[in-house]
Amino acid sequence: MLAINPEKQLRLREEICEILPSPWSPLTTENSKNMPYLRACFKESLRIMPITPGNMRTTVKDLVLSGYQIPAGSNVLMGVMALANTDKYFPKSRQFLPERWLKNDESAGLKARNAFVYAPFGTGPRTCIGKRIAEMEIETLLVRLIRNYHISWSGKEELKYESNIITKPCGEIKFKFEPIR
Ligand code: HEM
Repeated sequence: MLAINPEKQLRLREEICEILPSPWSPLTTENSKNMPYLRACFKESLRIMPITPGNMRTTVKDLVLSGYQIPAGSNVLMGVMALANTDKYFPKSRQFLPERWLKNDESAGLKARNAFVYAPFGTGPRTCIGKRIAEMEIETLLVRLIRNYHISWSGKEELKYESNIITKPCGEIKFKFEPIR
């Protein structure tokens, strides 16, 4: 997402460079707290391309959901990817707009129209137990890469991905890394 949206990548780099003035500046618990645009990029990427495109629950009692009678023992699938990629729930859903996750005026008119449609880590008592560690690892890697490289996409086509239980890239992966002086 950042490789094909260079202006968003630049904005992220500006945020990172404020905190890490040199390529070797340490990333600490303290200074990594103040990276709203990084968090926003992470959330927006998982909106467009969630690693788990759906999530399921088996009902333990008879329920009525949105007017439908659901008997106990039914498998109910939440289409995480489909819900997060429609304008019904996310304005301008086809665009990579990290701004929609910022807690300032930039998110006006871009926020989710329903609080439950964004669930890349699931929801409730069985929510992903590794969420924090995954965020920490991905954000640490992203900070280091974006601080030190301009990343672009040199593929002839967009990155393709296939989805079984987990979404994964398929086809050529053609990132280009150019060191930042
Ligand atoms: C970006 C990375 C990850 C994503 C998007 C992700 C997503 C998810 C989702 C959607 C669920 C199902 C939650 C639900 O049913 O409501 C889940 C469950 C789980 N995840 Fe992750 N996960 C990630 C990384 C990790 C990591 C790094 C670990 C381990 C360190 C982990 C451990 C688990 C476990 C143990 C469960 C089962 C929790 C339970 O059923 O009580 N995940 N994850």
